Amino acid sequence: MSSEEFTVTPWSVEGDIDYDKLMQKFGTEKISPELEARIEKIAGEVHPMLKLGYFFSHRDLDKILTEYEKGNKFYLYTGRGPSGKIHMGHLLPWIFTKYLQEKFDVNLIFQLTDDEKFLYSDQKSMEEVSKYTQENILDIIAIGFDPKKTKILIDTKDIKRIYPIALEIAKRITFSTVKAVFGFENSTNIGMIGFPPIQAAPCFLPSIIEGRPTPVLIPAAIDQDPYWRVTRDIAEKMGYPKPAQIHSKFLPGLGMQGKMSSSIPETAIFTTDTDDVVDKKISSTFTGGQPTVDLQRKLGANFSICPVFWYLRYFFDTEKESDERSRKCKGGQLLCGECKCNLKDATKPFLSEFKKQREKAKDQVDKFMFD
Ligand code: TYM
Repeated sequence: MSSEEFTVTPWSVEGDIDYDKLMQKFGTEKISPELEARIEKIAGEVHPMLKLGYFFSHRDLDKILTEYEKGNKFYLYTGRGPSGKIHMGHLLPWIFTKYLQEKFDVNLIFQLTDDEKFLYSDQKSMEEVSKYTQENILDIIAIGFDPKKTKILIDTKDIKRIYPIALEIAKRITFSTVKAVFGFENSTNIGMIGFPPIQAAPCFLPSIIEGRPTPVLIPAAIDQDPYWRVTRDIAEKMGYPKPAQIHSKFLPGLGMQGKMSSSIPETAIFTTDTDDVVDKKISSTFTGGQPTVDLQRKLGANFSICPVFWYLRYFFDTEKESDERSRKCKGGQLLCGECKCNLKDATKPFLSEFKKQREKAKDQVDKFMFD
């Protein structure tokens, strides 16, 4: 794959992503300063992930805000495919979702697509996926969502809540549409081909719960967008509002290219990693540095391709600190060892606190479940 090429689908993110091109390809809109200002007016502050452009694109966010301003509250909807442990990349959209829940005081539906992960992988048994489902729920609760305003929906357990809606959706989507949108082939198992309505269904669940058309906003990384494209096409025909989205970029993995992914565990930091493991992973990460210290001092380094830089920027640095870091990196005043140390020093206490919340979550699971 040349550096010009990239792929973004719900199951694979590869190459050097050009987010402007991706927005064009997917037909989404950039979050404008005006939209940011409207969010600030309601929320009282702009989350750093918005300010730094980590959440960068949307569909119908303006409509969601207009309805909200009129007193018509939306639901948030997001999810997780429980195929493995939770890494720090997953946490970013969820931390942002929590900010939206808090500031807009809205309900959240959190879907766990255990069915999808069983169907997608040749190797994973349902038992394994169920184990990760239970584990991942602890991470989700540890984010700090409001138990009174959050429901976790496990597909295989709560299917009765979404199956009637999924059927209505399935009837309106053809094989040629899902083939074109998701890239399914003749060799794709028919479970996967039939899965998209199951992830689409929670977009309409709030309307059913509330008994009136209820807007839904989906915060997630942009890889999930294909689901929303097909859902939006049929929503109004079914009498529901089109689900709106706010899309994030990806937290890069600690390797040379691509998003942080559980399928390359050495380049992902998991919420359950010990301090030693964190140290080891960060020590051996790829950076944007030069081969030698002398060259780095002379030529400077390339922060734009450096996962350590982006990881610090999105999680731990203030905007000012991050801009200063990029300036010094480019100018050769900063060596990679220093940034790696900063990242280790910030990640370990963050994870230690997260693990405490994760432990506490064990007693809270019932509060978050559908009856
Ligand atoms: P999954 O489990 O692949 O991803 C869960 C969420 O994390 C986002 N994500 C990332 N964000 C930033 N950096 C990364 N490196 C990174 N990797 C993953 C994903 O965009 C997603 O928001 N089919 C879905 C589960 C699902 C869902 C949803 C997701 C069901 N309903 C509604 C979002 C919204 C899945 O397998 O996600």
